[in-house]
Amino acid sequence: NSKHLDTMKKMHGLLAKLYHYCLTETDFGKDALAYLDKRGIAKNTIETFQIGFSPDSWEFSTSFLARRGFSLDDAEKAGLLSKRNFDGKLFDRFRNRIMFPIQNAKGETIAFGARILGKGEPKYLNSPETPIFNKSKTLYGLHLARSSIRSKRQAVLFEGYIDVISAWKAGVTNAVATLGTSLTEEQAKQIRRTAETVVVCYDSDEAGVSAALRASEVLESAGCYVKIAKMPDGYDPDDYIQTYGPKKFLGEVIAQASTQMSFKMETLRRGKNLLDEGERIRYVEEVLQEISRLPKAVERDHYLRQLADEFSLSLDALKKQQFQYYLQSK
Ligand code: UTP
Ligand code: MN
Ligand code: MN
Ligand code: MN
Ligand code: MN
Repeated sequence: NSKHLDTMKKMHGLLAKLYHYCLTETDFGKDALAYLDKRGIAKNTIETFQIGFSPDSWEFSTSFLARRGFSLDDAEKAGLLSKRNFDGKLFDRFRNRIMFPIQNAKGETIAFGARILGKGEPKYLNSPETPIFNKSKTLYGLHLARSSIRSKRQAVLFEGYIDVISAWKAGVTNAVATLGTSLTEEQAKQIRRTAETVVVCYDSDEAGVSAALRASEVLESAGCYVKIAKMPDGYDPDDYIQTYGPKKFLGEVIAQASTQMSFKMETLRRGKNLLDEGERIRYVEEVLQEISRLPKAVERDHYLRQLADEFSLSLDALKKQQFQYYLQSK
């Protein structure tokens, strides 16, 4: 019932404050603070995102919640505690990790993403699905970003917590992220309620590229106008900002984000030597196949002309071959 849910949110709110206090005001947080500093996350950013630290203890959160009179069973159902298999004893789920509070659209903390300091598995430990936390309906950063999304009529979608945080420092205040899963229809609809355009800015590894294309399909189905940002191979948005700085990120990644089709063309180009005749023809054919999947005649015409111009080919021949691919796919 709703009283139960309120209690679970209350536990999260209190623990978020406690973790934040541990990070910023106590000796427990020293290493974590140094780690964040090394990654370019300073005091004001820690405040904005209420980042915290969970001490290296099996009972720090457990005994805190018990002292506050909460039911530890409820805390376990809320994903804050774990149960020892052999005797059912409850212990802290989050230990020795940097804590990123995850908030719902109202700004209530409903879960945590928890990063290990440095290397180790799992890199991020997240809250499980609970009565107050549904991963596929939540977007990291949405509460904070909402007014900025509304005034810009645009949102920027990332893969990671740290990307949202880094982007915020770079001036991208309309940033949200999924929570380690692919973008869902519900999340896309939530974004659509405040944004017209969405810039998808995912990691530039192979997984990120295909996830970006999938996310852009979901966003388009939800009625968003979509652009995809491109980054050099192997970078994620945070890496890019650390390496090239905020100005280049804004000017060359966010502002240069292009349509899904240009992004696909760019991806098909990678690893091909277009000075080689055979590879050039293969590239043109692959692009024609993509063009044949475009639903709008105006778009097909636009890219066919672009292709004809770039490679000095006859527009007529390109149109014919494109139409053949279209028929083959029926
Ligand atoms: P990444 O592996 O790209 O991590 O995962 P990252 O965001 O760049 O983090 P840093 O820079 O290494 O600190 C992207 C997102 O996938 C989810 C998290 O939401 C993360 O932000 N993820 C990743 C998990 O949930 N668990 C993991 O073990 C790894
Ligand atoms: Mn503070
Ligand atoms: Mn990745
Ligand atoms: Mn990443
Ligand atoms: Mn990263």
